[in-house]
Amino acid sequence: MVDAESFIPDAKAEIVEAIGDDNAVIALSGGVDSSTAAALAYDAVGDQLTPVYVDTGLMRKGETEQIRETFEYMDSLRIVDAKDRFLDELDGVTDPEEKRHAIGEQFIREFEEVARDVDADHLVQGTIYPDRIESEGTIKSHHNVGGLPERIDFDGIVEPMADLYKDEVRDVARALDLEEIISERMPFPGPGLAVRIIGEVTEEKLGVAREANHVVEEELEAYDPWQALAAVIGKATGVKGDNRVHGWVVAVRSVESRDGMTARAQEIDWETLQRIQSRITGENESVARVVYDVTHKPPATIEYE
Ligand code: XMP
Repeated sequence: MVDAESFIPDAKAEIVEAIGDDNAVIALSGGVDSSTAAALAYDAVGDQLTPVYVDTGLMRKGETEQIRETFEYMDSLRIVDAKDRFLDELDGVTDPEEKRHAIGEQFIREFEEVARDVDADHLVQGTIYPDRIESEGTIKSHHNVGGLPERIDFDGIVEPMADLYKDEVRDVARALDLEEIISERMPFPGPGLAVRIIGEVTEEKLGVAREANHVVEEELEAYDPWQALAAVIGKATGVKGDNRVHGWVVAVRSVESRDGMTARAQEIDWETLQRIQSRITGENESVARVVYDVTHKPPATIEYE
């Protein structure tokens, strides 16, 4: 286990040395990794670093507002509203890897525009150790690793946390006084809610997924899961009032894990599951069914796509 108190000054010194008098950018996703890397790097080089948050429209409920609040002390912060452009790119795309690709491409376009604008020649990334391992095996294409540097020509890439595990990153985040909502927040995939929607991503499905994920995060917090999530997995028949409806099926998943490479489905008590079901179906007219996923990884993955 790395000691956060001694890691921080060493990492800052490494960042200062790598960036020198140049400008740098970092993609801020709201997750603990990029937030911690951004806070570290901003402490080290101030406004030479431009943190870029791209609002893809695939984010969790309240995430953009949270980012704005938490990082408003960084004068150089850029928030890019790209919701409509992402939805356009995802129109008609149903294959999981094509979805990731479309999101990754659009993300790079948005990011590149800012990087050019601020004349950035360095890229800071919140890559952590398990990202590197999974990417080498290409179990899924994780667009937060590799994509940016391959496409945009930076003089240098700075990855101050490349040897850390997630729990070590959380220690560093706490030592940096990052707000709890960030340091303790569950990991969230780069492509966001798009990998929690089977098939085409539409505004309607996104609305269902966003609300359902919010309910699940709230209700399962006490179980301290590695990740708890909800996915829109299809349609099925249900009854609402006097009518049979063909509504959405929402799958709820909660897993324990150390690094996301393997995971165990959590045992959740019936009452909690029922409360989740009643909130999700109650808050959303178009949801007909809620199911709980009991599959470990392997054979399943954590996300649905
Ligand atoms: P899976 O679903 O492969 O997920 O078991 C393992 C961990 O990785 C996250 N994940 C992603 N993260 N881009 C990301 O940045 C992606 O495309 C992606 N797919 C999965 C997932 O949330 C879990 O923590």
